[in-house]
Amino acid sequence: MSSGPVSDAQKQRAGEAAAALVEAGMIVGLGTGSTAAQFVRALAARKLDIRGVSTSEATEQLAVSLGIKTQPLDEAGQIDLTVDGADEINSDLVLIKGGGAALLREKLVWEASKRRVCIADSSKRVPVLGRFPLPIEIVRFGAMTTAARLGSKLKEAGVQGHLKLREGVITDGGNLIYDLHGATIERPAELGTLIKQTTGVVDHGLFLGLCDLAIVAGETDIIRLNPNAA
Ligand code: 5RP
Repeated sequence: MSSGPVSDAQKQRAGEAAAALVEAGMIVGLGTGSTAAQFVRALAARKLDIRGVSTSEATEQLAVSLGIKTQPLDEAGQIDLTVDGADEINSDLVLIKGGGAALLREKLVWEASKRRVCIADSSKRVPVLGRFPLPIEIVRFGAMTTAARLGSKLKEAGVQGHLKLREGVITDGGNLIYDLHGATIERPAELGTLIKQTTGVVDHGLFLGLCDLAIVAGETDIIRLNPNAA
């Protein structure tokens, strides 16, 4: 993840641009990570009458501390707009997410949303996904066995790279994260299916066909990308 004054300013501008899309009365999915936190701050500053649905315990704490009223996903049902960050964005607006280990709740909230907006600084745009290790959420029971089985399947399928446990991380759902390092992800849909079909895997950080708009802030500009024009 990039950080520093330049990217912080970019994250802030992307967050503010996304906050401008929110209207009073909306149910808003609140993403996780440093860029999504900028959105949550900009949204709170607008003091609109909205309800937020948080994608992690960390975001829930931030939102509540800033005075945003929140409700659980099951109470909200359908979400009007979700705004969240990403670790990588390719030209088809396929994303890698989960750098903050929140990929499962994020995907659940994204899938329950009418409109999904990804916000990022320009360092997140890549020609091919995979430089950022792909997060995979795995249940704790038999996790080493599951990871070994998944590793063999990936090798058989010709996928480069290796799985590594993210030490000391337990997700909000009580699971572990293994990251797939060193893979060049030319066909994300195929890889996603292969990973998801492995028993013990809860989900992976590939977000396919979910992003309706990406707001990417550069050093001086902001660009908006949608899947049709990407
Ligand atoms: C958390 C995520 C984040 O959105 C992603 O890691 C980007 O984070 P940041 O904005 O801090 O770079 O997917 O699970």
